[in-house]
Amino acid sequence: MNIKSIERIDNHVRLIAQTLLPGEIKYLKINDYRGIIEAIKRLDVRGAPAIGIAAAYGLALAVQHAGDYSRDFINNVATEIETARPTAVNLSWAVCRVLDRLTKEQPDTFESVLTLLWSEAENIHEEDRQLCEKIGLNGAQLINNGDVVLTHCNAGALATGGIGTALGVIYTCRNQGKSIRVYADETRPLLQGARLTSWELMQEGIDVTLICDSVAATLMRQGRIDHVIVGADRVAANGDFANKIGTYSVAVQAKEHSVPFYIAAPYSTFDSKLASGEDIPIEERFAREVTEGFGVRTAPEGVQVYSPAFDITPFELVSYYITDQGIKPGGRV
Ligand code: MRU
Repeated sequence: MNIKSIERIDNHVRLIAQTLLPGEIKYLKINDYRGIIEAIKRLDVRGAPAIGIAAAYGLALAVQHAGDYSRDFINNVATEIETARPTAVNLSWAVCRVLDRLTKEQPDTFESVLTLLWSEAENIHEEDRQLCEKIGLNGAQLINNGDVVLTHCNAGALATGGIGTALGVIYTCRNQGKSIRVYADETRPLLQGARLTSWELMQEGIDVTLICDSVAATLMRQGRIDHVIVGADRVAANGDFANKIGTYSVAVQAKEHSVPFYIAAPYSTFDSKLASGEDIPIEERFAREVTEGFGVRTAPEGVQVYSPAFDITPFELVSYYITDQGIKPGGRV
């Protein structure tokens, strides 16, 4: 896997500018946590695991840049980073994990605090790489040679610290010698499927066909999809989950056409504190992303817009949860 969405290089963090893909491959060199927050909000780094990793690196960058290693400063930065985007739980999960280690080890010099912050961020990053490998191996058990998979949004290397979750399953199948074809939903309005998933899969030599979101149901009805695999931003205790807007529609269509529907996610995306999907906060995005996405106006000036970035899919529509710990049945087995 040559694609690395995020990397620590010496004392800075390097991100692929995902908003410019696929037209331009540009890297952002980030030296302060404010740059991390801006990149998260702008979606230059995106996908639940990747923003968790970025958040952890952000804490190290903050202390390094400000030279302030007081717990008050770190707590304030943590709150700012945690609230950069509300839906993916990986953001607060990663920040809490770093703060917990600080509390436990109580380093008391600038050097020791900074060393701990970099080291825990790197642990989270490396762990995510390994979680993706496990998810890939677990999920590959569900897929046969010659199968066709539909995916929505981007849950690949660009969204994680490794080979991805949903796309990690595809790469693992390919590495096992299975021939797999993928249909990628374009994923309105920010086109993560068109701009990111189809680009990423092509870089990796996977047979991918891009479709408008509205084509998925027809393909299912024609019997041309064997499985749907998507990622998740947060899974509640009852198994309801949040993922990119449009996921719920795909899950309903999959049930209607008896196509198995899987979500692939690491343990860091499971939030047992929330009872059901109703409790998951849903981010709303800017109207201009719908009315003039990518600089071309496609709606009348002044029109009202409602643009939730995510939706909730109830557990009843999930066939299996593919996690790093194994495959767990959902409410639609
Ligand atoms: O708004 P985005 O691009 O961050 O949304 C990302 C998704 O919805 C992904 O499917 C999810 O984060 C899982 S990534 C492994």
